[in-house]
Amino acid sequence: MKKPTQKPAQKTPAKPAGKSMKKAQNKTLKAETGRPMRKATEKLWSGRFNEATSADVEAFTESISFDQRLWRHDIQGSIAHARMLAAQRIITAKEAEAIIRGLDNIAADIRSGDFFFSRNLEDIHMNIESNLTARIGDPGKKLHTARSRNDQVALDLRLYLRDEIQSILSLIQRLEGTLISIAEQHDTVIMPGYTHLQRAQPVLLAHHLLAYVAMLDRDRDRFTDCLRRMDVLPLGACALSGTSLPTDRALVAKQLGFRAIALNSIDAVSDRDFAVEFLASSAIVIMHLSRFAEELVLWSTEEFRFIEISDRFTTGSSIMPQKKNPDVAELIRGKTGRVYGNLISLLTLMKGLPLAYNRDMQEDKLPVFDTADTVNACLAIMNGMLPAITFNAARMKATAGEGYSTATDLAEYLVKKGIPFREAHSITGRIVFHCIQNKAGLETLELSVLQSFSPVIAKDIYRVLDPSTSVSARTSYGGTSPAEVKRQIRYYRKLLKIK
Ligand code: ARG
Repeated sequence: MKKPTQKPAQKTPAKPAGKSMKKAQNKTLKAETGRPMRKATEKLWSGRFNEATSADVEAFTESISFDQRLWRHDIQGSIAHARMLAAQRIITAKEAEAIIRGLDNIAADIRSGDFFFSRNLEDIHMNIESNLTARIGDPGKKLHTARSRNDQVALDLRLYLRDEIQSILSLIQRLEGTLISIAEQHDTVIMPGYTHLQRAQPVLLAHHLLAYVAMLDRDRDRFTDCLRRMDVLPLGACALSGTSLPTDRALVAKQLGFRAIALNSIDAVSDRDFAVEFLASSAIVIMHLSRFAEELVLWSTEEFRFIEISDRFTTGSSIMPQKKNPDVAELIRGKTGRVYGNLISLLTLMKGLPLAYNRDMQEDKLPVFDTADTVNACLAIMNGMLPAITFNAARMKATAGEGYSTATDLAEYLVKKGIPFREAHSITGRIVFHCIQNKAGLETLELSVLQSFSPVIAKDIYRVLDPSTSVSARTSYGGTSPAEVKRQIRYYRKLLKIK
C-alpha cells in the first residue's frame, strides 16, 4: 500500500546523528548569544524561559514519537506557506527559494532514514523548522511568520486525512467490485435467508452479497461527504486571531488544492469535527466489515459448510492438527473494537474543551492514525480473501428449503386465492405445526391433508413450495428474484463504472 516506511522516533540515535544533524547542532550552538548555553537542540520558544524543561516534562509532552508520520504533509504545507510569504513580499523570493530547497532536502533525508527526530524538539513541526534553520540559516527563521503550530497541526491533519480518505475510498470501491463479480459468478445459487439466525426465506446468494455492496456504497458516500467538509484550509488562522501581516490565504488554499478557506480563525484552530467524522465513518464501515466477517466465520463452520476459505487466508492450531481457522475474518471482527474506541476517545477528548487550542488536542492523532491504518488494512485483506472463497452451492440450496422456509409462499398463495393475509398466516401456521408434529416437510404433505386446512389449496401448491420457485416469485422491486438481483448488479456496475 501507499504507506511511507517510517522509522519510529528513537530515544537515543541508533547510529550517530547524520551529517545534517551535526550541522544542526553546530548552527544552534553558534546561534546562541548572551544566554547560557543549555542544549544542543534549543527550544524554538525558549525566549521567555530561564530554566531548561525537565526531562520528565519533555518525555510527557512530546508528540514526535507519533506525529513524525505527518512529515510529508508538514513539509507540503510549509512550502505552500513560504511561496505565499514571498508572493506577498513578506519574505524575499531568494529566502523562499532557500526555504523550499531546505525543506526538499529534509524530505529527502527523512525518506532515506537520515533524519534524526529529536524528542527535545517536541513535535514534527519544530523538528523540521529547527532543522531547516540549522541547514539554511536566517531564512529558516522566517518560515514561521504569520503562522502558528495551532493552524499548522490543523492543516497537517487535514492533509493527512485527505490522503487516507482517498485510499479508503478506492479500497471500498474495489471491495464493492469484488463482491459484484462474486455475485455474478454465482448468480443462480440459492441459500437460506435468515432472521434471528433462523432460516426465514430462500434468497439468492448474489442478493445477500449485494446487501454488503449497498452498505459499502453508503460508506463511500459518508467518506466523500466527510472529505468535502474537511477540504477547508485552516492555515493562516495563526494562533487563533489571524495576523496583522498581509497574508494571502487564498493563494495557500489554491496551492494545496483546498476548495475553501476556514472563515473563522478561532474555529479553524479549535475544530476537530473533521477527525471525529472520519472516525465515525470508519466506525460504520468497520461495523459492516465485522458483520460480513462474522458470516464468513459462521459459514465456514462444519455446522454450516456454506463456504471454504482458502488455505492462504486461514491459519492452523498449534495443538489440534485438524484445525483450519478463519482468523483473518475474526481479526477484522475484533479490530472493530479499537475503531469504536478511537471514536469515543476523540469525542471524549474534545468534550468541554474551551476555545481555542488546548494541548489536549495533541492526543487527537493516535486514534486517527490507528483508525486509518486499521480500516485500510481490514479493507485490503478482506478484498484479498473474498476471491479465494469457494461456495458450496449444493449445501446452500439443500438448506434453503429446510425449516419451512417457504411457509410465507404458502400464505401468499392463499392470499392470491382470496383469503385475507391474517387468516392465510394462521392457516399456514397450523399446517407448519402439523408438519412439526408429524416430522414432515410442507412439500411432503398429501394434497388431501393440505386441503383439510384450506379447500382452496390445489395441486399447483407443490411448485410454489419449491425454493427455486419461491426465489423467482419475489419480483417486487429490490426483491430476491433473479431479474431484480440483476437490476441491482446493473445499477452498481454503472455507478462504479465497472465494464
Ligand atoms: N504538537 C502539538 C499538537 O499536536 C502541536 C500544536 C502545539 N501548539 C501549542 N500551542 N502548544 O497539538
